[in-house]
Amino acid sequence: MERIHSGRIPGLKGQKILVSGWIHDIRDFGNLKFLILKDKEGTMQITIPAKKASKEVTSIASQLTKESVISVLGNVKESDKARQGFEIIPEKIELLSKSETPVPIDMSKKIESDLSTRLDYRFLDVRNEKSIALFKIRSKMLNLITNFFDSNNFVAINTPKITSSGVESGSELFKVDYFGKNAFLAQSPQIYKQMFVAAGFEKVYEIGSVFRAEKSNTSRHVTEFIGIDFEQGFIKDEHDAMDTAEQLMVYLVEGIEKELKDELKLWERKPVKMKKFPRISFEKAVELLADEGKKIPKNEDFDPEAEKLLSKIILEKQKSEFVFIYNYPYVKRPFYHMKPEKDSHGTKSFDLLWNGLEIGTGAQREHRYDILKKQAKEKGINLDEMQDYAKIFQYGCPPHGGMGLGLDRFVEAFLKLDNIREAILLPRDPERLTP
Ligand code: 4AD
Ligand code: MG
Repeated sequence: MERIHSGRIPGLKGQKILVSGWIHDIRDFGNLKFLILKDKEGTMQITIPAKKASKEVTSIASQLTKESVISVLGNVKESDKARQGFEIIPEKIELLSKSETPVPIDMSKKIESDLSTRLDYRFLDVRNEKSIALFKIRSKMLNLITNFFDSNNFVAINTPKITSSGVESGSELFKVDYFGKNAFLAQSPQIYKQMFVAAGFEKVYEIGSVFRAEKSNTSRHVTEFIGIDFEQGFIKDEHDAMDTAEQLMVYLVEGIEKELKDELKLWERKPVKMKKFPRISFEKAVELLADEGKKIPKNEDFDPEAEKLLSKIILEKQKSEFVFIYNYPYVKRPFYHMKPEKDSHGTKSFDLLWNGLEIGTGAQREHRYDILKKQAKEKGINLDEMQDYAKIFQYGCPPHGGMGLGLDRFVEAFLKLDNIREAILLPRDPERLTP
């Protein structure tokens, strides 16, 4: 008989079925024994009446431990006592893999295990409905992001993650021994996405691993994350890139809301309902923060507290979970961000915040070689030593811009998680290199 998953059982009352899964709980009342079995779609109750069950079934049932994997052949019965509305009366139980006891973390989550222990046993930690829902949402996001860029005629590129240098100021590089030479793990595909816009692809995107040797231990930083980068040529200004990001986020949220209703219900996530995101200048954001008593020192960027407060203000005033902040001060941005025509202290750059979290940074890039060279110099960078980057601008490069976003932060912001590590199967941070 073919195995079926728990999600299909409600329509099969009175029928004989074969199910498999992990034993989530065992409740023994002497004359009645209940096994709560879970598979990737949910849970089911296996009811074993001591008197009516066969010797074989009772004997196997007595050996079972929580988290063991079993197969059950049995009949589906309607039941108003079972949470699922049905129960399965077993004819045959097969023990496929017995779990050791006790399990190292509390799988029922009644006792909170600390995050570190949970991550040590991540494959057990995610063995529950809510975690499976989270990773289904993350998986769907990846799928929707690919669909979005594909249907908007962006070309998917895959660029090297072992490189000779970086361009993101302020982000530390991981050094790699490359056959005796120094190499670094890519801290962004920045150079390459600009390269292939200049190549004539015009619109490119990449979904890939990004590495940052930041020794900060925060709820929003990891040392390896999944970057979603896009870059587009012949833009009018940075607002074109903001338009793309806005359309992407709306498509993403609407797609998940449409396709993963049950998963969102488990996370008590209400619909986002937003098509256009407010766009406010850095200067205006500083004013809004000052009104709430938060002072931003001149030429300083927003700290996480300021970003949270800004999101709160925008949510209250404009009912939007998302907000773009544009025109960041030049002193805080990398040399390749274009300056506005009449404002040498600003940049045609922006950040996108979602529920208090920076989920992306973008800009119109400086494509005019002479100005780029000058800006690099202002920042103490010698462009002649970055030939691979400099070359891009010397043989015909259109005006262009784009953005780098982080998938892990999407999940963190969307589900309002306390920590980015919850959104990642096997997170990497300064303390964690296993499993
Ligand atoms: O803001 P970042 O550093 O910008 C860039 O990498 C530029 N090349 C983007 C561009 O096209 N101008 O990183 C982009 C995004 C952040 O907004 C955040 O979502 C994510 O990448 N990110 C991290 N996520 C998790 N852990 C970290 N340590 C992250 N650093 C950046
Ligand atoms: Mg940023």
